[in-house]
Amino acid sequence: MSPPDALPPWRPLLRGAREREGRSPQARWLQLATVAADGTPRVRTLVFRGWAGATALDLLTDGRSAKPAELVHQPAVELCWLLPRARSQFRLRGCLQTLSLEQEPRERERHWQMLSPSGRALWGWPPPGEPFNSEAAFPERLPDGSPLPDHFQLLRIALNQVELLELTSHPHRRRCWRESTGWVEELLNP
Ligand SMILES: Cc1cc2nc3c(=O)[nH]c(=O)nc-3n(C[C@H](O)[C@H](O)[C@H](O)COP(=O)(O)O)c2cc1C
Repeated sequence: MSPPDALPPWRPLLRGAREREGRSPQARWLQLATVAADGTPRVRTLVFRGWAGATALDLLTDGRSAKPAELVHQPAVELCWLLPRARSQFRLRGCLQTLSLEQEPRERERHWQMLSPSGRALWGWPPPGEPFNSEAAFPERLPDGSPLPDHFQLLRIALNQVELLELTSHPHRRRCWRESTGWVEELLNP
């Protein structure tokens, strides 16, 4: 077993695969799968917003969108991160983490400050998924210093299993790491 803050073996592999993408914004896009209240699946693309320690990652969303309610009902998620230049697919399983009362506002504020004015603007738009109203305001920018809206939501996902499929060799290479076994690498058939 490695110390809790040591990087698990899949982290350098993921970093290497992301580096192969160069400056492409796609290197930060991943798909988040959730389960809706009726038990049916939902999936959508989100931007990776950074690591929170060795095995948790941060996502940002609009609290008025569908996914936060789905996560209340089922906090377990799967993320799929395709890094095409490395011909690698990472499948990350985890659970929505509840932040402490001191940590949550601090971390939300930190992410809010780090966004560019155009990145922040989305949280100035009307509620996602509601009928479009052409009269409504859709700002292109929210300048630095704009107040943090209540619906600016941080999703911190604590990961408990990572699977990597690489198509770079014959046969393809599939590996899995689980938190429950100390992130020891398991080789699987592709
Ligand atoms: C490239 C790309 C990046 C996106 N990044 C985010 C993001 O970081 N956070 C987010 O909430 N939605 C993001 N979206 C929009 C979501 O995919 C989705 O449409 C929206 O969050 C509503 O999802 P929901 O109704 O399932 O909650 C992104 C979409 C694309 C195409």
